[in-house]
Amino acid sequence: MQIKIFDTAEELDAYAAGLLANTVKAKPNAVLGLATGSTPLGIYEQLVRLYESGDVSFKQATTFNLDEYVGLPASHEQSYAYYMNQHLFSRIDIPLSQTNIPDGTAADLQQECAEYEAKLAASPVDIQLLGLGHNGHIGFNEPDEALDGGTHVVQLKPGTREANARFFSSIREVPERAVTMGAGSILKANTILLAVRGADKAAIVKEALTGPITTKVPASLLQTHPRVIVLLDREAGRML
Ligand code: GLP
Repeated sequence: MQIKIFDTAEELDAYAAGLLANTVKAKPNAVLGLATGSTPLGIYEQLVRLYESGDVSFKQATTFNLDEYVGLPASHEQSYAYYMNQHLFSRIDIPLSQTNIPDGTAADLQQECAEYEAKLAASPVDIQLLGLGHNGHIGFNEPDEALDGGTHVVQLKPGTREANARFFSSIREVPERAVTMGAGSILKANTILLAVRGADKAAIVKEALTGPITTKVPASLLQTHPRVIVLLDREAGRML
């Protein structure tokens, strides 16, 4: 596991965007695994800048997002589909048909999960961007006695709903369930890029990277992956 600590968030964002862009430059039809939340926003901003400067094209790339809330259509401002269109897809040259996000409005969610997993198996992820939840969740894989390997439906923990309530007008509006790639789906990526910012994540960063490997801290499973690059700002890395 390679750990890099940056003095500023901007440096972290630029470095992460550079790694994603380099993957696509080396392999134009690369498969990118993408994440949502506040952490990747600056990274996507930098990626858009690289695209606008003519440095990289995403015309042949494919993307898979980690997760989506159950019940929110792509037109809902808090859906992850809306987030991705707003912050990245509408600003680069990737055809929307090459972007994949679980459909949280599917009538048969089990079937949606199975189909998503099959698509992932057919197009293995070259580089997977991950954020980190305060309880150690990755995607929406919440701490538990056991974890599902593949794409599945999860019940969100109260703390996760509270943390994400800042994006909604009230906590009641935060969906109770989500579709997420499983720990197994995530760990199949060739390279994993875990980006974490802020003092409030310092303790969970330490636990995830140096504590025991346990499904009670889903991000600790990353310790088993051969190619993980961890990008931290000073605050997030201060307990290492
Ligand atoms: C959400 C997402 C995760 C993300 C996490 C942290 O729950 N499902 O993929 O990593 O939040 O988000 P933030 O970066 O806003 O702290």
